[in-house]
Amino acid sequence: MPFGYLAQQLRDMRAGARKLVNAHFAPGALMLQVIRQTSETDAEAAARYFSGLRYTKRLKVVEAARIPHPVAHGFVYVFEKRRPLVSLGERIIEGPDDPERFEMRDPRTTYTAYVPLGSIARGAALARGNGAARPPCALCHGPGLRGTSVGPPIAGRFPTFLFRQLYAFKSGTRAGVTATLMKPIVASLSRHDTIDLAAYVGSLSP
Ligand code: HEC
Repeated sequence: MPFGYLAQQLRDMRAGARKLVNAHFAPGALMLQVIRQTSETDAEAAARYFSGLRYTKRLKVVEAARIPHPVAHGFVYVFEKRRPLVSLGERIIEGPDDPERFEMRDPRTTYTAYVPLGSIARGAALARGNGAARPPCALCHGPGLRGTSVGPPIAGRFPTFLFRQLYAFKSGTRAGVTATLMKPIVASLSRHDTIDLAAYVGSLSP
């Protein structure tokens, strides 16, 4: 993520303009707690450091009707491969391929995100926009959604993260100054549409 974008998000979190979608979401709550305890200078230094790292996608987005049995474990789902498959329905279920590696916070851990059948193609169509009311995502996020000076890079990020951000713009919990550009985009999107867009954007190469 570009330095300016990260620094702005941290300022928004500190100012209360970027809040939790769900008060029980522990990782987000910890993030807000950390930023309140970090000086502005240190936050900028962190943004500078992280903006210099390249995002490597270690995520497979897989369309499926039935998926390995997911069990909530801490912050993630663990797939229990020995149990019978379950129906995915209108959901995105994501988890590490090797839960032990995830527990060790191995940065090379790979993940699978199961998304509904047909969602990637439907999301691609939605991303092209519907005229003036909803311009194409690429208008601000650039070709391949790899980012411009207006919109951050979003290609190949985790579908549940993408869904959560789109929902946050819609619900108003992400309400920083630049978030206003996303507000009209998400206004007309149903929950189905948002799942499809998250599947499509997550399936792209960063
Ligand atoms: C008019 C410009 C514009 C268009 C069109 C647009 N976006 Fe955005 N988008 C932005 C801006 C600006 C931000 C940063 C918002 C902020 O500062 O909080 C953003 C942020 C996001 C984020 C959060 C990224 C992150 O990691 O924090 C997602 C996800 C996203 N947009 C998805 C989409 C999708 C999907 C579409 C098309 C359906 C789209 N955007 C169309 C301008 C746009």
